[in-house]
Amino acid sequence: MPDLPSAFRPSSACRVLGVGIATLDLVNEVECYPSEDVEVRALAQRRVRGGNVTNSLSILAQLGHGCAWAGTLADDAASQQVLLDLERHGIDATTAVRVPGATTPTSYIALSRATGSRTIVHFRDLPELDSKAFAALSLAGLHWIHFEGRNPAETASMIGSARRRAPHAVVSLELEKPRPGIAALLAGPHLILAGRAYAQAQGFEDPAAFLRDLAQGTTAGLCVLGWGAEGAYWLVRGGRVEHAEAHAPGRVVDTLGAGDCLNAGVIDGLMRGLAPREAVSRAVHLAGLKCGFSGLDGLIAEARRAGWS
Ligand code: FRU
Repeated sequence: MPDLPSAFRPSSACRVLGVGIATLDLVNEVECYPSEDVEVRALAQRRVRGGNVTNSLSILAQLGHGCAWAGTLADDAASQQVLLDLERHGIDATTAVRVPGATTPTSYIALSRATGSRTIVHFRDLPELDSKAFAALSLAGLHWIHFEGRNPAETASMIGSARRRAPHAVVSLELEKPRPGIAALLAGPHLILAGRAYAQAQGFEDPAAFLRDLAQGTTAGLCVLGWGAEGAYWLVRGGRVEHAEAHAPGRVVDTLGAGDCLNAGVIDGLMRGLAPREAVSRAVHLAGLKCGFSGLDGLIAEARRAGWS
């Protein structure tokens, strides 16, 4: 991929910092997605740690990378569960900023057994990490710094700080949802990982047109766009839009976190020195396997059993 820091050395054991949110996910498995104003029984329930960046880190940790998370934590019982889960995955959360009296961001999720679709109602009133807290973090020894595209003014400043303070590290940015001022984030990252909801909110139904538009407004050398069951598209600066077909699992059982998995797969592939085509195709395959698998724990072991490498 063009424009990577010259000091970046690919490796199967990189040190990655993820900046973004950790949540409590209350996942209710239902027969099918309910209509409005009905009461339905959940067939099963799980309470797990979620959040885009921490989901991606949990995959990267399973892939053998050294992972750390920077974000904010409430001080309620759920925040303990979040911390324990990160610890269990070997994700260093020691720099997380505690917000006294705050409540852990919670997602109420209906997971349809009929389709595997996930419908998320997300509640949060926890402030996000700010650039002052980020400035206090050591970035020494990091190969990669990945940001969630939220809280644009603060995140733009953090990306700028990451580029200045860790010139040897690759900086990536996830664009999942549109947010006021988000264009401020486009100058700075080496890699952009966009989602379909983001592209559609900008008025694009054509992935290629979206990527061409995005590439004009960013300094990133590579832009990747996940497109659900249609796989993913990517554009290397100066090149043509390319496409990787999705790998549909035998049965879609759980799409929660599939996008986070795609992002982790692309980052992992590039960290290993794969070209964009191999990195994206392999990541799309992993995201497809994830859709046939419940949760994220043990996904990589399962994917390897299925022949993914
Ligand atoms: C899945 C997810 C959930 C979380 C929600 C936050 O991508 O990260 O784990 O609750 O999205 O937006």
